Amino acid sequence: MPGTGVVIVGAQWGDEGKGKVVDLLAEGAEAIVRFQGGNNAGHTIVRDGEEFKFHLIPSGILYADKLCMIGNGVVLDPRILLGEIDGLKRRGVDVGNLRISANAHLIMPYHVLLDTAGEIKLGKLSIGTTRRGIGPCYADKALRLGIRVQDLLDEKILRKKIMAALEPKQQALRELSVQRRKLRKEAGEGGREGADQSAAEAPDPRLDLHSITEEFAGYGHRLEPHIADTARLCWEQLDEGRTVLFEGAQATLLDLDHGTYPFVTSSNPIAGAACVGAGIGPTDIGQVWGVTKAYATRVGAGPFPTELDDEAGRHMLERGHEYGTTTGRERRCGWMDLVALRYAVRLNRMTALTVTKLDVLSGLDTLRVAVRYRSREGAIFDTFPYHQSILHSAAPEYEDLPGFDADLTQCRSEDDLPPQARAYLDYIADFAGVPIRLVGVGPGRDQVVWIGGNPGVV
Ligand code: IMP
Repeated sequence: MPGTGVVIVGAQWGDEGKGKVVDLLAEGAEAIVRFQGGNNAGHTIVRDGEEFKFHLIPSGILYADKLCMIGNGVVLDPRILLGEIDGLKRRGVDVGNLRISANAHLIMPYHVLLDTAGEIKLGKLSIGTTRRGIGPCYADKALRLGIRVQDLLDEKILRKKIMAALEPKQQALRELSVQRRKLRKEAGEGGREGADQSAAEAPDPRLDLHSITEEFAGYGHRLEPHIADTARLCWEQLDEGRTVLFEGAQATLLDLDHGTYPFVTSSNPIAGAACVGAGIGPTDIGQVWGVTKAYATRVGAGPFPTELDDEAGRHMLERGHEYGTTTGRERRCGWMDLVALRYAVRLNRMTALTVTKLDVLSGLDTLRVAVRYRSREGAIFDTFPYHQSILHSAAPEYEDLPGFDADLTQCRSEDDLPPQARAYLDYIADFAGVPIRLVGVGPGRDQVVWIGGNPGVV
């Protein structure tokens, strides 16, 4: 009897609270796999009053009896990963169940430098990346210049591959640095051209072949016990009839192909990508759980039709503590966008929806939900427009629902929720065309309401 693959995806622009959902659903699973993204993600799990913040390690690590995997689709910064491993060990968490795909790609120091340099060069047009080297790392993967986890295990191969990848980076970074200095000079901030020019041409010590190779070979020694063929491990679990969770990072609207390009991440966070990023087949997936906040947030630049710049937006920011886990940036806040949510539901073919942070909306008189967009020319869009310029100028049209003013953080069953909160959830589920199975009413693990009983994935 084959097991079930359950994919968990973000339905908006990230930070929906997927970590907590994964943590809860992991109870009914035997293995958890991250399938894309890198340490641009960040999730916080509160367990027995203790807070755990992860960027790379799947939340499942807190269960000693479950396999916890970083799949081939992930880009991995070994310094960050080792920092997380050390941090967990210090707090007495066993990491013996962590497996890392030998085929996952490594974020190298030059990727981080290029990410920052690229953003600076874009100036006002910058994407607002997390500057963790994600885009340049995936670019090298596509260029076939990537360094993979398995390369860490053979220093000779590692050196050769770094050498091939490094040379074009040194050149690109030198050019970017010269351009920057020129621009600064043109803007009247010059005066030290001679010294600046030679600084730009001097080799950056962070780009030295010998020291990078040594440093990364050292990481290889430490990571070796965890390196594995994670696709095969997934098949073993599924073929034995077990449940495997596939944990997405970022979210649907940040998807490289289907999101608000170019204001997206450089991987595919949608459910279909679990197949590629973990090495399973589409028919291994039995359930897809989407996660949305009860309102909307976005970090970084790019279109956000329901964005607010008013009291309600500030309410969401403050009450929802909407500051990035990874970069600490203030998140942009707005009303629930049902046009975008319905798009995410279909794109991922969700079978269940989780609505998080419903408690944050308490105290707002009216809850607005966007049900269509109107373009600058007056055209109506009931579906998510594929055209960038339409999306950038789209004005949302709202349906207004009554708000509620009650402390939801103690609610544990549907009946505990105020009728207005239930009506809000029903409206969302009807519009999006997917049942809501789980509602978050606070940061704690127990601060949830299961809808329709039967908690978990089965
Ligand atoms: P990158 O993934 O660092 O290249 O950033 C590309 C875009 O994705 C930027 O707008 C980031 O703010 C956004 N982004 C990346 N990771 C996350 C995340 O985990 N949550 C929310 N936004 C993210």
